[in-house]
Amino acid sequence: MPRLNPSLFWRAHHISPHAARLLPACRTLPSALTELRWIREHVEVEQSYGSNIPPKIRLWQLCERRGKGIPLQYVLGTQPFGDLEIKCRPGVLIPRPETEAYTQHLAQILLNPPPTPNDSARPFSIVDFCTGTGCIPLQFLSQLSPDYPNLRITGVDISPHAVRLARENLRHNLSLLMLPPEIYSPHLPPPEASDRDVRASVQFTQGDIFSDSTIQNLQTQNPGGGGWDVLISNPPYISRDGFAKDTARSVRNYEPLSALVPPSQYKIDGVLDEDVFYARLLEVAEQLNPKRVLLEVASMEQAIRVVELLIRNDGLVERYKTVEVWRDDPRQHQNGQETVKVGNRAVVVRGSGQGRSVYLCQHDN
Ligand SMILES: C[S@@+](CC[C@H](N)C(=O)[O-])C[C@H]1O[C@@H](n2cnc3c(N)ncnc32)[C@H](O)[C@@H]1O
Repeated sequence: MPRLNPSLFWRAHHISPHAARLLPACRTLPSALTELRWIREHVEVEQSYGSNIPPKIRLWQLCERRGKGIPLQYVLGTQPFGDLEIKCRPGVLIPRPETEAYTQHLAQILLNPPPTPNDSARPFSIVDFCTGTGCIPLQFLSQLSPDYPNLRITGVDISPHAVRLARENLRHNLSLLMLPPEIYSPHLPPPEASDRDVRASVQFTQGDIFSDSTIQNLQTQNPGGGGWDVLISNPPYISRDGFAKDTARSVRNYEPLSALVPPSQYKIDGVLDEDVFYARLLEVAEQLNPKRVLLEVASMEQAIRVVELLIRNDGLVERYKTVEVWRDDPRQHQNGQETVKVGNRAVVVRGSGQGRSVYLCQHDN
């Protein structure tokens, strides 16, 4: 990373010593000033809740931490995700805007057209593997529960810290009134006796997607007897080499390696180390038979490899009529239809930006 020009520090210092403190992490003056404004707002909110740390000291503390390169989300403790406020803590990956974009896009597909009264009377089930902060299940809950009153969402993660934080995020967003109050969850106080009607439910469980018992438990849940409706996952997908060479320093120094790089114990013959979670997730899709699958990937090259893994599996490829690659912003419409050839199949590519996810659906959309 190039060194910053000393004159930039003087200019920043002239405006505020805090801006100069933020420069090593923010790299430009406008970005340091924007973050300083957010940090000031955060300190004001803390004070309004009765913090006993004097505001000047708190502002200094937070700018000092951020200036050392700690991600802003860990310094402030939250990250917006749709309408939600997701709590972030070291040890659990910070949710990314690209994840927010495809989650919202899939929710829009599920709402357009809205479910018929018959459809909405039956359970609609979603499983999110590698759930982290729980951002994906909570976003679905926020967008879908008005139209899918029988929504059943399960988030699974191997990390107990992540599962604890996801449960905390559920309670946090309920307390902010960002989620409908009538949600049922085993992580919330038991409902009033009069309040036991059918309603949206969410749970976060600890589990390893490579363990057969984790998947068997989900198979036996088989919500409503009809099988799972959606399997979604943002798994670890970066190679060890890519982690060392291509990730930002703040990611390498502060975000959990286990959330980003598949561990070497999960080797699968003929599959690149960074793709092993996809091979396993497709196996899991074979067992749970979800109507839709959405898998986050790092790039168009990785998306193509995921489609190749799908094509290698005759049974599975037969099941999914729709196979698409979505770019970072899948909502952006391009002129004409872009396709990419994988084997002898023309796969539709939607949106703008980098290849970001692979979408499979048993119907035509
Ligand atoms: C890339 S993060 C995704 C977090 C969150 N879904 C998001 O989009 O922000 C990957 C997550 O996978 C979890 N994980 C890693 N190995 C796993 C495994 N074998 N089974 C289940 N979860 C795993 C990590 O703990 C981490 O929370």
